[in-house]
Amino acid sequence: MDGKKAVESFTVMNELVLPNDTNTFGNLMGGRLMYWMDIAAGIAAGKHCNAPSMTASVDNLSFKNPIKLGNVVHIEAKLSRAFNTSMEVHLRVWGEDNLHQYKYESNEAYFTFVALDPNGNPRKVPQLIPETEEEKKLFDGALRRRQLRLILAGKMKPDDASELKALFFAK
Ligand SMILES: CC(C)(COP(=O)(O)OP(=O)(O)OC[C@H]1O[C@@H](n2cnc3c(N)ncnc32)[C@H](O)[C@@H]1OP(=O)(O)O)[C@@H](O)C(=O)NCCC(=O)NCCS
Repeated sequence: MDGKKAVESFTVMNELVLPNDTNTFGNLMGGRLMYWMDIAAGIAAGKHCNAPSMTASVDNLSFKNPIKLGNVVHIEAKLSRAFNTSMEVHLRVWGEDNLHQYKYESNEAYFTFVALDPNGNPRKVPQLIPETEEEKKLFDGALRRRQLRLILAGKMKPDDASELKALFFAK
């Protein structure tokens, strides 16, 4: 199976924040944003593996700035690494005030998707080829993030997470 470049999965999604998307403060609800991020990440994963895939996990999400009613949500998603059957998708989110012409950071997150075969079992995905410096940095960090999330999910023993341990015990 040939590898695919990170840029091939690049996905941009824009949504307008309407009244039904907001909380009582007139800001975008976190849950609605997560829904849109899940879709953008799923599209990026699909571009990479060309197969149906499922969200396996979402890393911790924190919101830096609220996105206002009437502003545009701009989501960019791109694969940061592919493993055996799973793919880590890196997302960045901005709010855009087109009236006053400024853009503000909302959040950044990592979603993990697993590709499935027609029987619903995990299937192999192409390896990811990072090209830019930023893609290479995200690619390297993905190994540690994967170990941390598998430990938290009870699917890996901390002792087996050598790259993660090296981070804590580096001299
Ligand atoms: C995701 C899912 C397919 C994994 O199935 P599984 O039986 O645990 O399969 P495996 O243990 O063989 O793992 C398959 C891959 O998933 C990864 N994985 C499993 N649980 C994970 C987790 N909590 N976080 C990140 N990756 C995970 C494994 O690391 C493995 O990746 P790899 O092949 O690249 O090494 C299964 O747990 C599932 O269907 N979950 C529900 C998904 C869902 O409904 N999502 C929508 C939101 S409700």
